[in-house]
Amino acid sequence: MVWGGLYASAFERVRSSMGNAGRVLLAYNTNIDAVKYLERKDLEKRVERAGREEVFRYADGLPKRIENVPQLLGSILWSIRRGKAAELFVESCSTRFYMRQWNWDELRMGGQVGIMANLLGGVYGVPVIAHVPQLSGLQASLFKEGPIYVPKAESGRLKLVHPKEFAGDEENCIHHIYEFPRGFTVFGLKAPRENRFIGSADDYNPNLYIRPEFREHFEEITADVELAIISGLQALTKENYRGPLKIIKEHIEVLNELGIPAHLEFAFTPDETVRKAILGLLGEFWSVGLNEVELASVMEVMGEKGLAEKLLSHDPVDPIAVTEAMLRLAEKTGVRRIHFHTYGYYLALTDYRGEFVRDALLFSALAAAAKAKLGDVRSINDIVKATDVPVNEKAKAVEEGLVREYGMKDGIAEVNSYQLAFIPTKIVAKPKSTVGIGDTISSSAFVGEFVLR
Ligand code: AMP
Ligand code: GLC
Repeated sequence: MVWGGLYASAFERVRSSMGNAGRVLLAYNTNIDAVKYLERKDLEKRVERAGREEVFRYADGLPKRIENVPQLLGSILWSIRRGKAAELFVESCSTRFYMRQWNWDELRMGGQVGIMANLLGGVYGVPVIAHVPQLSGLQASLFKEGPIYVPKAESGRLKLVHPKEFAGDEENCIHHIYEFPRGFTVFGLKAPRENRFIGSADDYNPNLYIRPEFREHFEEITADVELAIISGLQALTKENYRGPLKIIKEHIEVLNELGIPAHLEFAFTPDETVRKAILGLLGEFWSVGLNEVELASVMEVMGEKGLAEKLLSHDPVDPIAVTEAMLRLAEKTGVRRIHFHTYGYYLALTDYRGEFVRDALLFSALAAAAKAKLGDVRSINDIVKATDVPVNEKAKAVEEGLVREYGMKDGIAEVNSYQLAFIPTKIVAKPKSTVGIGDTISSSAFVGEFVLR
């Protein structure tokens, strides 16, 4: 049971070092997730009422954005049929109102920044500064207690306050999350795995609105920061990406001048122009985190169509194809660390060496299992509870493949001039929810790695 031992010692080492972490800057997307666990009868009734034929048109191909109720319901069916996540901007206010009336089962913190702020600050006790595009009372109430700060400008001077003390009467940015379990069936369509469809009733995050405090005082905000995690670029379009990307570029330059390693959380970015622009910025980052669909989408804009197809054609994803793709990406952009996660295993390609890279991955897999199991990780003790979750069986073949190809030992190999770290993950059979697991993995591994150094 080599992995059992490695998991236990990695967890202890990261836990006992977390107290050494310096401030982490988190920018840019925070919102409110209104989570609805779908029910068959209710959904079928709604589809009939909205016009079955019209709805089913969108179950075959997603619209670009949601302009009416049939598009919303069709997009939900699109996700269910494929067991795939999707997220669309909801433009029409009547559809937004329909979603509000449909209601939700739970309100939760949303957006990569919000989720990571609560995990790092609220659970691990790592001080974080978060960018929250709109701080309504409801948004503030979703922040956990702990060293979580937002900048507040008062008569030109900057203060760092907990979001609950910000007292901003700003707008609610609500993302409606429609979750379904594996096997969920409507009109004979059966979900091959658990997942969700997200409809964003939010004019701020999808456009990557950056607050004046961050535009005017960025250097002051970052003065005592040690690490940064950047996210929220995914919903930009070729029409609106230039402005925000220009500001982000300036921000990254400041971070690099100060020697602050920055991680980019690369969520699925449907617009190819935007994806190419992000690829062009990647070399400015220390690290990037992505899953198989995201890595394939990056290979596509790099002209590596064959590799992109290979990444999507096996289950579990072929680790040799993943390594090839990560090598191409690292060599093309110069990014120093690539953290790949998929259902069943993670890989990290780094231009530096050490077991701490693998150990941080192990810690993050425990955090992910806790998140999948409980929906919300409340304390580091919740993570301990995930120790019982079994290691994914399918990962054995993945490991054997890596041992054969690269002579990997205890999850570590040398590939070209990089280190490749591998871990098999723990998979929760019946997860409570799927939203935010990726954010939990990436932030735990990135911060975990730096505290172990
Ligand atoms: P993303 O697709 O970026 O949201 O990340 C989802 C990640 O969460 C996947 O790559 C898996 O590694 C992990 N994951 C998904 N479902 C589970 C589960 N049931 N138990 C543990 N980890 C999971
Ligand atoms: C995206 C969604 C947000 C969700 C998050 C989870 O940022 O917009 O609603 O909470 O992903 O990773």
